[in-house]
Amino acid sequence: MVRKEVVLVTGAGGEMGQALIHALAASGRTAILALDVRPLPAEIAKKCKVALVGDILDQNLLSRLVSEYAMPSIFHLAALLSTRAEFTPEAAHHVNVDGTMALLKIAVEQSSWLGKPVKFLFPSSVAVYGLPNLEAKAAAGAVKEHEWNVPQTMYGCNKLYGEHLGRYYAKHYRQLAAERPTRGVDFRSLRFPGLISAFTMPTGGTSDYAPEMIHAAAQGHAYASFVRETTRMPFMAMPDAIRSLLMLEAAPEENLTTEVYNVTSFSPSAGQIADRVRAAFPGAAITFEPDLARQGIVDSWPAEQDDRRARADWGWSPEYDEERAFADYLIPNIRKRYGSA
Ligand code: SER
Repeated sequence: MVRKEVVLVTGAGGEMGQALIHALAASGRTAILALDVRPLPAEIAKKCKVALVGDILDQNLLSRLVSEYAMPSIFHLAALLSTRAEFTPEAAHHVNVDGTMALLKIAVEQSSWLGKPVKFLFPSSVAVYGLPNLEAKAAAGAVKEHEWNVPQTMYGCNKLYGEHLGRYYAKHYRQLAAERPTRGVDFRSLRFPGLISAFTMPTGGTSDYAPEMIHAAAQGHAYASFVRETTRMPFMAMPDAIRSLLMLEAAPEENLTTEVYNVTSFSPSAGQIADRVRAAFPGAAITFEPDLARQGIVDSWPAEQDDRRARADWGWSPEYDEERAFADYLIPNIRKRYGSA
C-alpha cells in the first residue's frame, strides 16, 4: 500500500497548532494530518487534508496512522500547560511525557519506512528553567540553554524530560540492540518564551496574564493581573514563534550544534504591558492582584533567554520586537477581532 504523505500536527487545535496550520497552508503545504482531542474550528479543519479527533495516548489510533501515512515531518504540539498541569500533575505527565514518547516511537518507525530520519519538531518552554529566588533571577539575566535546568513545575519537568527523550531517540535509541535502527529521529526543539496571539487565547498557561490583559481591554473588560507589576519574563508574538519552528525545520542538519534552542524576543514587565494596553485602549481597567502560587511560578522563570545559539546556527532573529508586536500585530488585529474602537 502506498502511504499518503502528510505533515502530522498534534495539538492542532491549540494556539500554536492553529497558527502553524495557517502558515503551512499559506505556504502550499496543505497535506496536513491534524490531531486534537477536540474538534478543530471549521476554518482550521478546512485547511487540513485530514482533521482527526483523537488522543495521542490511543495506541490503536497511532498504529493506524503509521500504517496509513508517511510523515516526513511531525510537529508534536499537544501538551497540558503549566498552570493546568499543577492541578492534575499525573495526568499532565501522562500527556506531556507518555504522549511525547508515543510520538517519538512513531517517528522511529516512520524513519525506517521512509529510509530517512523524520523531522520531529518539539516545542519546549522557558518553564524548563527554575531560579530559586528573585535575587538569583536578577543575577542570572539572560539564561543560556544549559543553565538553571531545575524546573519547579510539572510542566517544566515534563518539557525538560521531553527534550532528553528526543535526544535519546535521535542519538542513542536501542544502542545495545542487535537490530538497532540505522537512522534515528531528527529531533529539533525550541524553548519558547510566553507566546501572545492576536487571534486565540491560551488555556492553562502561567504566562497568560499578558494575552489576557490585552484581550480583556479590547473587549472593555476589567482585568486583574495575577502577577505583580514588576514581574518580568520573556515573550514572543505568535507569528515569530511559528516562523522559528519552520526555520528550525528547514535548517540544514549540519548547521545544528544542539537539539534544543532558546528563542525569544522581548521581556517587558507586567506593568509595561499594562502601559501599552492603556495607551491603545485608554479606558482599560487593569489592576494587579498577585496570586502567590502563580506568581511563584513566573518568579522561578528567567527574565530573559539567551538565543544567540539559534541566531548563530540557523539565522534566527525575531521580526516583532516589543514595539512592532503591539503596534503592527497585536493591537490592530485584536481591535478588529472585537470590533473595538
Ligand atoms: N506559556 C506556557 C505556560 O505558561 C509556557 O510554556 O505554561
